[in-house]
Amino acid sequence: RPRVLSGIQPTSASYHLGNYLGALQQWARLQDEPYDVFYFLADLHAITLNPPDPAVLTQRSRGAAAQLLAAGVDPERSAIFLQSHVQGHTQLSWVLECLTGEGEARRMTQFKDKSGRGESVSVGLLTYPILQAADILIYQANFVPVGEDQRQHVELTRNLAQRFNGRYGETFVVPDALIPKATARVLDLQDPTSKMSKSLPDAGTLNLTDPPAVLTKKIKRATTDSETEIRYDPAAKPGVSNLVAILAAVTDQPVEQVAAGFAGQGYGALKGAVADAVVAFAEPFARSLAGYLDDPAELDRILARGAERARPIAAETVRDVYERVGFVAPV
Ligand code: TYM
Repeated sequence: RPRVLSGIQPTSASYHLGNYLGALQQWARLQDEPYDVFYFLADLHAITLNPPDPAVLTQRSRGAAAQLLAAGVDPERSAIFLQSHVQGHTQLSWVLECLTGEGEARRMTQFKDKSGRGESVSVGLLTYPILQAADILIYQANFVPVGEDQRQHVELTRNLAQRFNGRYGETFVVPDALIPKATARVLDLQDPTSKMSKSLPDAGTLNLTDPPAVLTKKIKRATTDSETEIRYDPAAKPGVSNLVAILAAVTDQPVEQVAAGFAGQGYGALKGAVADAVVAFAEPFARSLAGYLDDPAELDRILARGAERARPIAAETVRDVYERVGFVAPV
């Protein structure tokens, strides 16, 4: 069966609507397809820039697992695990690092953006996308559901797979990114030229755990434009189109249909409808999340089971790769 693989960093206490509509919503839906599905929390990636306090990282990793479950990722149908629980990721990453040009790694836009912010930059930030390539290739994944900002990393992954296959013989599946259409890049509500991100001020970010009144206030204050007409036109009307795309995704309708439904109405009506729909989504999410957070032992059991499913597949790929590279097999 084709394999689906994706990861998310346990970087904050709450995921935002961009994470959900760009990635997690697809993750949950792909479980209904005839695929083998692997979703992991990229805790190794979470220490590349501004590593959190150890206790905070531990807590966020369990919190992230709970959020995946609340978003509809089902441990019966998906392997849910922590990256640090499967040794193969770093074992494969080393080989891929030796296949990647230094300049090639430096050209990654996320590296350039993050390293350009004046913070101290680790070598781990530079090799981050190579570890990501290992995350994907180690499971021979066919499909990688992600938001637009991960497209370049999946492209690098494809290049490394092809390079390895060319040099050492057919070994890796060359994966395809699955990127949603209208919500590939959910925009910040205050600054709709930037993607919604935990590193921007909170007023523009819809956190899945925000209380209803906070979500409503943020949506009502969203930046629009000086026209009055509601159209889906991301280039000319990024703020309004972002609200239309959010409403469409949360209510599972096409963007054009949502936009057409507001013909003759003003931005206030649109914002009211977006607020109602986002609140209606967030309330059951928060309830479900609280239930999972109440039982950390169960979360640990789910993560252990997920790692047990992932480990043999990862180990087999590492064995194969190490043999092809010419490392002597241990007896
Ligand atoms: P991360 O943790 O930053 O984000 C998780 C997912 O959320 C998507 N996303 C968005 N989608 C739409 N609009 C937004 N504003 C928005 N913000 C975030 C991201 O595209 C991503 O799909 N490097 C990855 C984690 C990773 C990974 C992997 C992913 C590590 N190894 C292997 C896939 C396969 C990351 O930092 O995502």
